[in-house]
Amino acid sequence: MRDHIIQRLQQDHRNILRILSLMRMQIDFMSVHDGHALALISNAMHYMQQYPGLMHHPLEELIFDRVESEDDALVRVVTRLRSEHKEFPLMEADILVCISEQLGTDVDMRPRLRELGNAYLDAQGQHLQTEDVDFFPLAQDILSLAQWNQVYQMAASREDPIFGPQALARFDNLYDALMAAGLKLPH
Ligand SMILES: [Fe+2]
Ligand SMILES: [Fe+2]
Repeated sequence: MRDHIIQRLQQDHRNILRILSLMRMQIDFMSVHDGHALALISNAMHYMQQYPGLMHHPLEELIFDRVESEDDALVRVVTRLRSEHKEFPLMEADILVCISEQLGTDVDMRPRLRELGNAYLDAQGQHLQTEDVDFFPLAQDILSLAQWNQVYQMAASREDPIFGPQALARFDNLYDALMAAGLKLPH
């Protein structure tokens, strides 16, 4: 069960990185009032809210809870990762507000959107890296198989709405843009 959970989290990270790369391209190259880019960034944020926010992070937090009580040295990194999980939804909401302001006015919101978007992408990039390099390998060793089984049993069951078996039509534009950008899918 341990390997299954870690592989799922690592696969999620690869998928999240594809979405974030696509978002960075849109932020870097969007023209003024670029409806297509805004729709992609907006959908990227909705994906982050709906899958990492509701499934991936809660699954990681079940692991955080158990690692914290096993190893004092990891408490610091876990505290940081946990507070970043709380921060991301606020950043995503700010980006969505900025997009709706851009759509509702003639003001060029791109500088603000770039500022918010880059801060978000940098924070996410560091977060994913810390988990991949500093957290998953240690958690893998520290927790017992019984604890991994507990994590598995407590995890919510929620499929990825882009990369899972039942992709949602509302994310088709992201999927198409990933393919067009050569950000190939894992399957
Ligand atoms: Fe995380
Ligand atoms: Fe993660």
